[in-house]
Amino acid sequence: MIEAYQAQCQRRVDAALESLFAAPHAELQRLYQAMRYSVFNGGKRVRPLLVYAACEALGGEPARADAAACAVELIHAYSLVHDDLPAMDDDDLRRGQPTTHKAFDEAVAILAGDGLQSLAFEVLADAQRNPHSAELRLEMLVSLTRAAGPAGMVGGQAIDLGSVGQALDQAALEIMHRHKTGALIEASVHLGALASGAADPRALKALQGYAQAIGLAFQVQDDILDVESDTVTLGKTQGKDEANHKPTYPALLGLDAAKAYALELRDLALHALRPFGQSAEPLRELARYIVERRN
Ligand code: IPE
Ligand code: IPE
Ligand code: MG
Ligand code: MG
Ligand code: MG
Repeated sequence: MIEAYQAQCQRRVDAALESLFAAPHAELQRLYQAMRYSVFNGGKRVRPLLVYAACEALGGEPARADAAACAVELIHAYSLVHDDLPAMDDDDLRRGQPTTHKAFDEAVAILAGDGLQSLAFEVLADAQRNPHSAELRLEMLVSLTRAAGPAGMVGGQAIDLGSVGQALDQAALEIMHRHKTGALIEASVHLGALASGAADPRALKALQGYAQAIGLAFQVQDDILDVESDTVTLGKTQGKDEANHKPTYPALLGLDAAKAYALELRDLALHALRPFGQSAEPLRELARYIVERRN
């Protein structure tokens, strides 16, 4: 079921994303090509899926969530392009293909990341693309900018790079993961809920509990896969965390305890969804998928 839902949401968000990458001038072809390359190279689209699923949980129409789905994926794609740069994780392989700075060059990759980030905010702000009131669009913008910025993903990446070679305790590791990965996942659920037009404070609170749990679970599973998967399945070079001396959950707790923790977080997420009925089934499926996925 999750596969069908995933395929349907992927088609939806990819069609909406497609419209963003026509170069306005011949001189900008290479930049736009690099941005396209960084977005249309086989990502799982988990964050857009969460946007659509949260919108659906509150009875919203998917068309109302297209802009938010694009925006979170654009921020995610930018974060990966920069994460792979030599100054950061120095990775050559992403989604089974050369990383953007390998396929183009470093300067183009930096600019493509910058461009994707700006596009994300443009899509949310633009009433033509995001058919909501100015007030709601502003609320969405605040949510995404916070999650992407220094108090969210960028902050998490700074902690990550500052922690190389250090033995973080579990509390510090949790802070790092909640920032670098959890924040954008939380924002995806929040944006989806806002896009439904039916988000009340109680629903938002319950969805936040869900999103916090799966946001952390997502990065715990990413750490686990880096240890026990293989490069072909992953589409990125296996074993890079250990090679780069990154603090991770398997390194801190051991593989079995890290897996048990991911399942615990999944259960916490499912528990948070108790107030919801059948309409939250895609969110439940996604919680299971996040800790069962193989790439
Ligand atoms: C990888 O994210 C980076 C993390 C935040 C852990 P995904 O596993 O969602 O990557 P894609 O988009 O499917 O390639
Ligand atoms: C990435 O974490 C988090 C981001 C904000 C991009 P990782 O560095 O573990 O992601 P991968 O394993 O390279 O996809
Ligand atoms: Mg990294
Ligand atoms: Mg990385
Ligand atoms: Mg990783």
